Amino acid sequence: MAEPRKIIIDTDPGQDDAAAIMLAFGSREELEVLGITTVAGNVPLSLTSRNARIICELCDRRDIKVFAGADRPIARKLVTAEHVHGKTGLDGPELAEPTMALQAQHGVDFIVETLRNEPEGSVTLCTLGPLTNVAMAFQKAPDVVGRVRELVMMGGGFFEGGNITPAAEFNIYVDPEAADIVFRSGVPIVMMPLDVTHQLLTKKDRVQRMADIGTPPAIAMVEMLQFFERFDVEKYGSDGGPLHDPTTVAYLLKPELFQGRECNVEIETKSELTVGMTVVDWWHVTDRKRNAKVMRNVDADGFFALLTERFARI
Ligand code: BDR
Ligand code: CA
Repeated sequence: MAEPRKIIIDTDPGQDDAAAIMLAFGSREELEVLGITTVAGNVPLSLTSRNARIICELCDRRDIKVFAGADRPIARKLVTAEHVHGKTGLDGPELAEPTMALQAQHGVDFIVETLRNEPEGSVTLCTLGPLTNVAMAFQKAPDVVGRVRELVMMGGGFFEGGNITPAAEFNIYVDPEAADIVFRSGVPIVMMPLDVTHQLLTKKDRVQRMADIGTPPAIAMVEMLQFFERFDVEKYGSDGGPLHDPTTVAYLLKPELFQGRECNVEIETKSELTVGMTVVDWWHVTDRKRNAKVMRNVDADGFFALLTERFARI
């Protein structure tokens, strides 16, 4: 059996971030979580740092180190998404305040130090929020860029447009300068855009199979998803809402669930109208460098089966 793949999860929980973290926790044979770094995004940093620890405790993983990272985007005022995730970011279930401590080290320094200390090409970054921490790490320590095995990120959208503006997806919109730094860095990127996540609806039968697991983490997750989907159900009239962030972890476990292609991706940082847009050269109409594997399709039933199977292992 191969050694588990080492990952750092960078996140702004968020109910769907919680699902991604839980998917990793349920996959200990394949994934070793070296640490969780938090970033301001869905809610301010103090809450994302609280929520990350709540998820660890819910899953009985007090051994996981949680590091608070950037409390605001590189060059802009923070935009948050309480209208989607609720006041706490994890609205839905009743959750106890965390008792485990945050690490003293800054999240950005943890990313830099880990990439320097672990063997070159062994650490994967899995990002579920704005790319502020990763961009800051790359700016502070350019030597670490070449040491990253892969960066698997949830963010952007092309064929589906945006979810916070007509052109932009939330994670990229919040910190487009950070996204720009990361997409220009040369790091190998796998991008999970809205084009994929909008195919992953939390339909009733799928959520029921999670509820049937019956454990406290599974029940809390179901209550989170039921809260989280209400916004999209009202907006799109669908059976369930899209589940975004666990696509990243699912890709690490079962890449065959996803299909996409290598493309050039550029980030709009200037236009007021389209700031945060991910301009994907899907048809290869330019000679610009192919800097990301952009996913477009997913086996939705296979994805939810994986999620349910792994939640049951927690
Ligand atoms: C992304 O934005 C956040 O609200 C979600 O957690 C996800 O990371 C989807 O656009
Ligand atoms: Ca997120």
